[in-house]
Amino acid sequence: MKQRILITGGAGFIGSHLADELLRQGYEVRALDNLSEQVHGKDCKRPEYLHEDVELIVGDVRNPEDVERALEGVDAVFHFAAMVGVGQSMYEIREYTDVNNMGTAVLLEALIKKPVKKLVVASSMSIYGEGLYKNQQGELMTADERPLEQLKAADWELYDAQKQVLQPIPTPETKAPTLSSVYALSKYDQERLCLMTGRAYNIPTVAMRFFNVYGTRQALSNPYTGVLAIFASRLLNNNAPMIFEDGYQQRDFVHVRDVALACRLALENDEANGQVFNVGSGNNYTIQEIAERLATVMDKKHLAPQITGKYRVGDIRHCYADISRAQQVLGFYPQVEFNSGLEELADWLEGQIAYDRVNEASAELAARGLTV
Ligand SMILES: NC(=O)c1ccc[n+]([C@@H]2O[C@H](COP(=O)([O-])OP(=O)(O)OC[C@H]3O[C@@H](n4cnc5c(N)ncnc54)[C@H](O)[C@@H]3O)[C@@H](O)[C@H]2O)c1
Repeated sequence: MKQRILITGGAGFIGSHLADELLRQGYEVRALDNLSEQVHGKDCKRPEYLHEDVELIVGDVRNPEDVERALEGVDAVFHFAAMVGVGQSMYEIREYTDVNNMGTAVLLEALIKKPVKKLVVASSMSIYGEGLYKNQQGELMTADERPLEQLKAADWELYDAQKQVLQPIPTPETKAPTLSSVYALSKYDQERLCLMTGRAYNIPTVAMRFFNVYGTRQALSNPYTGVLAIFASRLLNNNAPMIFEDGYQQRDFVHVRDVALACRLALENDEANGQVFNVGSGNNYTIQEIAERLATVMDKKHLAPQITGKYRVGDIRHCYADISRAQQVLGFYPQVEFNSGLEELADWLEGQIAYDRVNEASAELAARGLTV
């Protein structure tokens, strides 16, 4: 018999791509999703991109009855439902904590009553805070948040005690978390809650720490998530992408189909149980470079990124993934090359309408003193 997989948040960006991957591999897929307005717009309709074979239960992960219904006859669960956005989490604290932390608690209590063969939870690179660094002597270094005084002086890099600049290096799973936003705290909470409950109740559990995921279907009018989607929405409206700091912050952009692949591999691999995995591309780019490359593939090269020199509270300087654990244990080798991923994104963007709410979101953060 076919295995049935539940994806909470399965109507969203990553969940819908995972659904496609699982359906291709012969699984049955059910999604539990409340079609939240920030992601799905005012009508809260089933998204057109969601594969017709996905059984969608419109419901809330915080509602025990919805969750119990969604778990009926299910073999494994991917827990993706979440409020997603670092900046917004710093003032919608109750909503983020409610959906992310409480939603996970409700799901886990339901799973204790009705255990499944596997639980995979979406964690995030945001839990690391700053990535791993080395000093000029080549010693590994972790770094605290940069002092506000330094940021106000537009001095963006990280330094050791001798005031020498630290060099970023790929961040492995062993780097201790530094939680610098409500969102990051809630993702760590989700990850730990799932792993500890899984262990206590013999539910094989895996946590996947996604880096910057990009690709088709990311909500374009949501100004709080996905830097590439935010830039795309600016460019579609003939506005220049706006970049915080100086644009030289480095990140790891991983294509959404590769993330879906990593998730399926985690589902199917017993050795993964009880572990956490970085899911990135293993490559790093500066934010300025990706803004320029996106403008180029969208034929909007004239819209050069606007460097604001501003800083968002909770933002980190550099973080990109060391994916060797996922390679060794899961056999995860990213397939989508960055340029072809960007070109595919540009093709999809041509048919999209995006409401550019970036100025609104920036004003919101500034009014609360969350940008410097
Ligand atoms: N996109 C990224 O770069 C990224 C990076 C790291 C981690 N993640 C994590 O991956 C997961 C999926 O993210 P995404 O980018 O697909 O986001 P998304 O916003 O597209 O998807 C999340 C889905 O969850 C649903 N949802 C929200 N609140 C819910 C609730 N109370 N009950 C049921 N459903 C609810 C939304 O309607 C949406 O469809 C999230 O857990 C996110 O924290 C994403």
